[in-house]
Amino acid sequence: MSSAFDFQSNLYPLSATNGNGYAPVGHTPITPSAVPTDLGGGSLEKHKTLTYLNGLSLVVGLIIGSGIFSSPSQVNVNAGSPGASLLVWVIAGLLAWTGATSFAELGGAIPLNGGAQIYLSKIFGELFGFLFTWCAVMVLKPGSTAIISIIMGEYLVRAIIGAEAENVNGWINKIVALVGLFSVTLLNCVSTRLGAKMGDMFMFLKFIALLGVTVTGIVVAITGFSASGKANQDWKTNGWFEGTNTSASSWAVALYAGLWAFDGWDNTSYVVGEFRNPSRDLPRVIHTAMPLVILSYILANVAYFFVLPLTVLNSSNTVAVLFGNKVFGPIGSLILALIVSASCFGALNATTFTTGRLVYAAGKEGYLPALFGKIGVGITREPRLGARNNLSKRLARWFGDQETGLFFTPVNAMLLNMVLTSVYIAVGEFDTLVTFYGVAGYTFYFLTVLGLIVLRVKEPNLERPYKTWITTPIIFCCVSLFLLSRAVFAQPMQTLIVIAFILTGVPLYYWRIYGRDKVVVKRVRSGERRWWQFWKMFQRS
Ligand code: ARG
Repeated sequence: MSSAFDFQSNLYPLSATNGNGYAPVGHTPITPSAVPTDLGGGSLEKHKTLTYLNGLSLVVGLIIGSGIFSSPSQVNVNAGSPGASLLVWVIAGLLAWTGATSFAELGGAIPLNGGAQIYLSKIFGELFGFLFTWCAVMVLKPGSTAIISIIMGEYLVRAIIGAEAENVNGWINKIVALVGLFSVTLLNCVSTRLGAKMGDMFMFLKFIALLGVTVTGIVVAITGFSASGKANQDWKTNGWFEGTNTSASSWAVALYAGLWAFDGWDNTSYVVGEFRNPSRDLPRVIHTAMPLVILSYILANVAYFFVLPLTVLNSSNTVAVLFGNKVFGPIGSLILALIVSASCFGALNATTFTTGRLVYAAGKEGYLPALFGKIGVGITREPRLGARNNLSKRLARWFGDQETGLFFTPVNAMLLNMVLTSVYIAVGEFDTLVTFYGVAGYTFYFLTVLGLIVLRVKEPNLERPYKTWITTPIIFCCVSLFLLSRAVFAQPMQTLIVIAFILTGVPLYYWRIYGRDKVVVKRVRSGERRWWQFWKMFQRS
């Protein structure tokens, strides 16, 4: 979709020349000097604060959330045997790794905030970027955030009232989930550095937790120790591949469940523009995070098999708590429940941080009302850089935001995500949501990675600071195509709903984008500055 207005070069300081000479595909700028530069106060990308460690904690922080503690049962049931389910975990992990690697190449070539939104716009035209943003902002991000919050709520309530208690009122879980969501959003609104620091801390906690599970599992396997009665002997007597499922659809369902646990590998792509050194750090982040996560997931699953009988493992969504209970009794379930809720809290933090950036980028592009593309509190006021009074100065120094002051964050964008997430938490029908998430999410992952291949052909000379083997995106595309095709056959109705929802974005696109571009063309031609301001407010807000 070519538009007359080179939106990138004005809104993103980086992309005027893009650091590596990349001219946006299909965009012919109209005398850029005549077009107003960003009217909305500050710009996040001017402040490059993220380091390698922050990147690592953003990826790991979101990937290790709820999944490894609760989806093993779904994987097991559908794969049919322990051996097959371990294989599913490996395949899901490798698929996530190839996806993340492909995104790292794209992030190096197009070093802007926004993730798939930017890549799809540049490669296939803005309509595709818009449709992705539409789905991500309305459903994918708030939906997945809601799932993580709810699971956090469930585990926390369980930790407080005891794992054995039956029939917790669903609303109590939901209220705890909402409180968690609100506090994470607040913390991330106050300070960029605070969010990042919390992320770093949670990353270490999560690895320690998974290591703890693994070591416990191995010790139990060797000593046969168990606080509650007989040790589990299943893994000694059963064949590891006995009962393996042979239907492709079951494997696809198992894969979807595993992929949920690995999801979040694209998280750094939303904040590429804020990395101090994206071309060096992105690939490093991916190639440390992914193998570490894959390894710790496999080991944790082996530990579950050592400790829990298959029947128990297959029938529960709170595998981790049962694990703790089996080995250490009630105190074990308490500890594991706390760990899982902390892990979800960390994932909530990571997804709040990056979703804020996605919504913010959409606001800047004109996909959403302009107020979402603003930094700081309020709608029209320019953010004042630097801390204002003594308290905020001290806090800013403490958090590490002395350069920008507190609240130099996309506050409105994060609030939007919080509100939408709250709606999903309140009405949540999660089975529907998870399927929707898988199908819609992988449609866009597939398109984006396909875009990498297209870009290689279309612009072979584009500077790519990091270049992966061409087999990487090809493998990713093939496997995700398999997954998508299975969904079409297994759940045609769901798939139709997804397609219908994506397509509702098309008229919206014409509304937002024609509005945006017409105004700019008109203004540049006539030079009517005051009219432009009114038009802009009218069209975009
Ligand atoms: N992998 C995460 C978990 O196990 C879920 C990630 C959801 N993805 C997202 N983009 N919010 O809980």
